[in-house]
Amino acid sequence: MMLDRIISVSNRTTVFRDGGNAVKVYRASYPKSSILNEGMNLTLAEELGLPVPQFRQITTVENRWAMIMDYIAGKTFLRMLTESPLKTDALLSRWTALQRTIHEKRCAALPQVNDLAAQRIEASGLPSDLIRRLSARLQTLPRGHEVCHGEFALSNAMESAGGKAFALDWKHAMQGSGEADGAWAYLLMQLDGFDKEAELYRERFVSLKGVDAALFEQWIPLGAAAHYRESNERKRALLLSYIETADRREREK
Ligand SMILES: Nc1ncnc2c1ncn2[C@@H]1O[C@H](COP(=O)(O)OP(=O)(O)O)[C@@H](O)[C@H]1O
Ligand SMILES: [Mg+2]
Repeated sequence: MMLDRIISVSNRTTVFRDGGNAVKVYRASYPKSSILNEGMNLTLAEELGLPVPQFRQITTVENRWAMIMDYIAGKTFLRMLTESPLKTDALLSRWTALQRTIHEKRCAALPQVNDLAAQRIEASGLPSDLIRRLSARLQTLPRGHEVCHGEFALSNAMESAGGKAFALDWKHAMQGSGEADGAWAYLLMQLDGFDKEAELYRERFVSLKGVDAALFEQWIPLGAAAHYRESNERKRALLLSYIETADRREREK
């Protein structure tokens, strides 16, 4: 393997190009079960017929676990939005369409968004009375059965030179309401500093056929609470503002 071309570096992974393959190498501390789960989720997505890089193998590279998949020649939506702000509308339209293609699928093997959110909110570290109210609201929400990407961030989707969109990074895949997946995608854009784009995305998403706008709004504080614990101080402050605004509104009802 010739791992000389680095595509991306984060605190969890380094992604290399090796000819027609992309090689995602995980940090030593990354749980092996999480890597196998990511490979499984990517394979499930592929078998559902979703546009994803094909899974090839999980192996080791210099004593590190690595996942090998097809290399997609193209740009992430993050890069395209940064490079071509004038194309924001068209990019967000293709971005949202890709996400809805995912929501059209069903996969019984994936964990339930509502169950994962319940566990994460319980363990969020937020004040206990707030946790109680958030958990009670979550209980009232429907258990959807749509495939949810789980981290539909701008860096987790690409477009090839030919204009075909691909969804990457399936480690958080779940099943549930597409509105929950949409609410988290909205928050991810906010957390990444794409405020204006996030609002455009929200307007677009909630006006789509089959989307329940009220449910989308209900998932915003719940998604924020479910991801509170894992977030750094800066992100927590933003997530908390969404949680508290919604909480105040609910209590005033
Ligand atoms: N199959 C692929 N083909 C081309 N580039 C890829 C591929 N997989 C990942 N990348 C690039 O690597 C980056 C990080 O990959 P990702 O799977 O999202 O890792 P992480 O879990 O660290 O977020 C992506 O944003 C993209 O730029
Ligand atoms: Mg990623």
